[in-house]
Amino acid sequence: MLLAIETSCDETAVCLMDLKAALQSEASLGSFLLEETISSQVKTHMPYGGIVPELASREHLRNLPLLVAEVLRGREPQAIAVTQGPGLKGCLLVGLSFAKAFALGRGIPLIPVNHLEGHLLSAELLEEPPAYPALALIVSGGHTFLALVRSFRDYEILANTRDDAAGEAFDKTATLLGLPYPGGPSLSRLARKGDRLRYSFPRGMPADPKSFSFSGLKTAVARTIREELQGRDRRQEVVANLAASTEEAIVGALLDKTRLALEQYRVKSLILAGGVAANLYLREQAHLLAKSFNIGLFVPPPKWCTDNAAMIAAVAVSEIRRNKDRFGAWSATKSLGPDAPFDLGPRPRFPIHEL
Ligand code: KG4
Ligand code: ZN
Repeated sequence: MLLAIETSCDETAVCLMDLKAALQSEASLGSFLLEETISSQVKTHMPYGGIVPELASREHLRNLPLLVAEVLRGREPQAIAVTQGPGLKGCLLVGLSFAKAFALGRGIPLIPVNHLEGHLLSAELLEEPPAYPALALIVSGGHTFLALVRSFRDYEILANTRDDAAGEAFDKTATLLGLPYPGGPSLSRLARKGDRLRYSFPRGMPADPKSFSFSGLKTAVARTIREELQGRDRRQEVVANLAASTEEAIVGALLDKTRLALEQYRVKSLILAGGVAANLYLREQAHLLAKSFNIGLFVPPPKWCTDNAAMIAAVAVSEIRRNKDRFGAWSATKSLGPDAPFDLGPRPRFPIHEL
């Protein structure tokens, strides 16, 4: 069995995967999950309107041992995987220190994982995983990028955000509209009642296929709120229109770049993942886009779109599958393994091209 841990941001997540079965079969990785659990910190950070890193680390410290015990129920895993970065330094440090001590104490291999690669491979957990090459749009509160996935470990980042992530854009505009944290879900609920075309907000760097940008949108929404909400009646209708037009701009910006990339690269699948993939309008529009290019859209269920441990296990198992012989040697020596030295540190910045 493989134990996997994710603590890069505000979710403490742990899972156990049947490593032996996963190495003997090529079936979808989701089918080998034995246990998974998560502890979300949304309530802890809610009063502050955003994630407080120090509080997040303390929550991980308290919750992680409990979640590991809950998942293991006395069983002994033969390997452990943990998120090394990118993420909040203190949060990464909790997961990594725990994993190192756990691996050292038991003499089992430790596999450090890049969180972004986790999101990229999250669709591998689906019962029917995507065909490659694929284009992946990863959108969350911390990251927004478009990547060409040719195969495992063969990635090319086609576009990245210059400022805010898409989730941040949702959250910050929601705050401007007076909606509760985290704003993305409440803004999108309200958007269903509004007119998407009422306001035309900037879609950010429309001519540049390599960059997303959401800071202009935030400024435009703030200005429009000042102009439109001054002593108005039918305030609710105006707020719904603002929410709908904001959602239109964010989803439009994301899919404009996706369309450009689909025109340029011949891919077999479109993958959509990250917390913002929970957005229904984005899912609908991505579905239409994929259909127009005659390819399938692959969106993991919400529990594997937001930060989770199953995607960390998916990366580790893919790596072990590729290096089966070497993994045998790691296990046999009952050490931490040559690629996972004991002085392994957290990598708050860990671009995917450094893999
Ligand atoms: O992946 P995630 O749980 O955490 C990060 O790694 O960031 O993503 C959380 C982000 C938040 O910004 C949240 O507002 C956004 O995803 N989000 C949504 C929706 N559900 C979550 N944004 C728009 N519409 C939604 N339905
Ligand atoms: Zn994430």
